[in-house]
Amino acid sequence: MSTARFSKFGFILAAVGSAVGLGNIWKFPYVTGEYGGGAFVLVYLITALFIGVFVLISELLIGKLGRSDAVSMFENLATKNKKFWKLAGFVIVVPLIILSYYSVVIGWILHYIVLSFQFLPSTVEESKNIFMTLLTSDVKTQLFYHTLVFLLVMTIILRGVKDGIEKINKILMPLLAVILSILFIYSISVESFSKAVYFMFNPDFTKLTSTAIIVAIGQAFYTLSLGMGIIITYAASLPKGTNIFKSSLLITIIDTTVALVAGLIIFTLLFDKGAESTKGAGLVFISLPSVFYEFGDMGSILAVLFFVAIAFAGITSAISMLEPTVLYLISRFHYSRKKAAVICSIFFYILGIAALLSNITDYAPMLKIGGKGLFDWLDFVASTILVPLGGILVVVFVGHFMDESEIRKELVPLMGNLLTEIWFLMVRYIIPCALIVVILNETGLLKF
Ligand code: PFF
Repeated sequence: MSTARFSKFGFILAAVGSAVGLGNIWKFPYVTGEYGGGAFVLVYLITALFIGVFVLISELLIGKLGRSDAVSMFENLATKNKKFWKLAGFVIVVPLIILSYYSVVIGWILHYIVLSFQFLPSTVEESKNIFMTLLTSDVKTQLFYHTLVFLLVMTIILRGVKDGIEKINKILMPLLAVILSILFIYSISVESFSKAVYFMFNPDFTKLTSTAIIVAIGQAFYTLSLGMGIIITYAASLPKGTNIFKSSLLITIIDTTVALVAGLIIFTLLFDKGAESTKGAGLVFISLPSVFYEFGDMGSILAVLFFVAIAFAGITSAISMLEPTVLYLISRFHYSRKKAAVICSIFFYILGIAALLSNITDYAPMLKIGGKGLFDWLDFVASTILVPLGGILVVVFVGHFMDESEIRKELVPLMGNLLTEIWFLMVRYIIPCALIVVILNETGLLKF
C-alpha cells in the first residue's frame, strides 16, 4: 500500500484519538448514573479488559497482516468464502453513517463553547429551553457548525495519514489530556469528590441488572471504536515491529482512564450542586450548563474547558470515521485522496443535514419513520445494531476464517501459548454469543 505509515507513538495516539470521544465524556457517565454506579463500572472494566482488548487485538491483527483497505483485507485474508467476506468489509460504511449525526453533535458542542464565553443558564429550565430551541428550531446555527465540522474533518483527511491524522492527534490529544487534568485537579478540591468516588467505585450489586451487563458490553465496543473497520484501517498503516498485544492494552487502558476521569469530574460537579444526572443529551447540554452557573466566575472557565475537551475528543473520533471509506476508494478505485475525501465528506454532510432537520419541528413530520426521527434512527441502527454486528463479523472472521497458523505465529511470541488459547476461545465462541445477546436485547427482540 502506498500510503505513509504512522510512527509508533503516532499510531497509539491516533487509535486513542478515535476511541476517546463523546462515548467517554458524555455517554459513559450517564450510563453509569443510569445503571447504578460502582457495580456497572466494575462490569464495564471487566468487559473492556476481556472483550475490548481481545477484539482490539483481532482488529490490529487484520490490519497488520492485511495492509490494505478494510474491504480488501477481509477478502484477501479469508481462507474460504471470499465473496461473503468481501461484502462483510462494507462495515466501513457504518462509521460514515455515524459521522453524519456525530458531526451535528460536535457542532452543538462548538456552539456551547461560544455560549459559555457569553453566559450560563441560571436554572435547569432555562438550560433546557436553550437546548431545546437549538435542537428544534435553530436550523441556521446547527447548519453553520455542522458545515464547520465538515470542512475541518475533510481538510484533515485530505492531508493523509501522516500529515493529517497523525499530526492533528499529536496536537489535540495532549491538549485534551492537559484540560482533563486541570478539570480533574479542580474536582479533587471540591468537597463532593469523595461522594463521586464512592458512587463510582463502591459496587452495590443489588443494582446490577442483566441489562446493565449488556449495556456495558455495548459501551466497551462503542468506546473503543470496534466493529467498524476503523481500527483495522488504522492498523494497515501500523509501523513495522509494533507489538499489537501491548498496543491493545495501552489503548484500552488510556480510553478507560479517560472515561473514569470524565465520570469523576462530572459526578463531582453534579453532586456538589445537588443536581440530577439526566439521560442522554440532557446530561451535557442541560444539567451541566446550569451546574457550571452555580460555580460563579469559575463556572465559565470550567464550562469552556469542558466543552473544548469534548470538542477535541469528538474531532479526533470524527476523522477516524471518515478514513476507512476514503482509503477504500483510494486503494480499490485509484481515486486521488482529494477526490475520495471530498466524496465521502459530502455524503456524511448531506446525511447530517437531513438528520439535523429531522429534529426541527417544521421538518420533523417529513423525516419521521414509525414515530422516530431520522437522527434517532441513524443512531439506533448504527450504534445499537450495526456496531455489535460488525464486532461479530470481526471475531468470527479471525476465529474461523483466517489462517490459524499465521495468527499463532503473530500472537504466541507476544502473548504466550495459554493467553493465545484463551484469545481463540473468546473470539471463536464467547464474544460472538455475547454480542448476539447485546443485539437481541437492544432491538427489544429479547429482553433480559
Ligand atoms: N469511540 C468513539 C467514542 O467513544 O465517542 C465513538 C466512535 C468512534 C464511534 C468512531 C464510532 C466510530 F466510528
